[in-house]
Amino acid sequence: MVKPSPTIIEELRQAALAVRRQAYAPYSNFLVGAAILAGSGKLFVGCNVENASYGLTICAERNAIAAMIAAGERKIQAIAVACHGAGSPCGACRQVMAEFGEDYGVFLIDADSGEIAAELTLEELLPHRFRWER
Ligand code: THU
Repeated sequence: MVKPSPTIIEELRQAALAVRRQAYAPYSNFLVGAAILAGSGKLFVGCNVENASYGLTICAERNAIAAMIAAGERKIQAIAVACHGAGSPCGACRQVMAEFGEDYGVFLIDADSGEIAAELTLEELLPHRFRWER
């Protein structure tokens, strides 16, 4: 894993906290923001978008990934996720995150303090993951 510079980590932290404020979460009131450092060095962000039909909710991480893919990028270098209690990505998001990188940094940000509460790697979050074998 190549760790981003402190400046980039700080940009990711701030971007995740800022986009979290755009979250649409009227049902759970649990706001989540995610910021991705893509292969080119650009940042992409996403927030959770809930729905009256609960199961249609999309997580912040997958929305950030969708924005990255729509911009033509295919690689995640690092991701920061901001929410109350510095929660870590759900299982579905972990598998989608694994589609676009092997072992990158995952920064969990406590939205209450604004600080990075944990620094993990994708490999730690999802070991022995499903891989498409051709
Ligand atoms: N949520 C995310 O955005 N990311 C996760 O990894 C887990 C959960 C959202 C979905 C829902 O809007 C709210 O958090 C409560 O589950």
